[in-house]
Amino acid sequence: NIVYDIKGLEDVKARVKEILKAKDVYVVPGDADLNPYVLKEIGILASKVIFSLIEDVKIIAVTGGQTVKEVVDSFPTCSFKDILVVPARGGIGQEVEKQANTLAASLAKKINGSYKLLHLPDTMDEEIYNLLIKKEEVQEVLNDINNADMLVFGIGNAIEMAKRRKLSQDMIEKLKKVGAIGEIFGYYFDKAGRIVYSTTTIGIKLEKIKNIKYMIGVAGGSHKAEAILSLGEIKNNTIFVIDEGIAKKIMSLE
Ligand code: G3H
Repeated sequence: NIVYDIKGLEDVKARVKEILKAKDVYVVPGDADLNPYVLKEIGILASKVIFSLIEDVKIIAVTGGQTVKEVVDSFPTCSFKDILVVPARGGIGQEVEKQANTLAASLAKKINGSYKLLHLPDTMDEEIYNLLIKKEEVQEVLNDINNADMLVFGIGNAIEMAKRRKLSQDMIEKLKKVGAIGEIFGYYFDKAGRIVYSTTTIGIKLEKIKNIKYMIGVAGGSHKAEAILSLGEIKNNTIFVIDEGIAKKIMSLE
């Protein structure tokens, strides 16, 4: 049945917005854990939300992942020549189609804007990190990233993401021990919203995101409800585009 109970979802949306104390919440019907088409719906709705704000934006930072990919894939071809798109962080740990670099370049093409990339690994030794961060071309992109006025980010389950980012088994055990639940761009959160671990990656810094005008968080599938709840104060500044599965699970956990 493609006709869904809009009134019902409006109530869900209002309740979840209240629980998360979020800037706004958009909910598509269904649960991406049960139906992969739901992720596409999230992509379409999130791209509409972004499109409605885009005239007010100069730099868009994007993370990697399947959900952000759906957003970029459903974005219409349009022309916003003055907009720069950058990856929110270095990271080549994901499949190339889902890497932040790839998504930044594709979104820039769609909007006829420009892009800058960061070809860096997800995790690296402190020593290498300290060398790379001093490089002029890295500094230049970092500067743009930290001046982004929109951040489009995927939200993941901590352990799932740690595995995807190929953290060591030792590290995964440590994350479990400290109670890591959610992950966004390399930061891992526990149930109380505390950061329990962050990967040494070059990219957006958590302390900078308070200054970002538009934070668009996208996630599908009820198994991500706890991850969203774990995001601490970041939730307050975020416009979430999620599915009914997550929304109802969040309500049930309240
Ligand atoms: O950091 C979290 C991930 O970006 C979520 O990735 O959309 O592929 O589940 P996903």
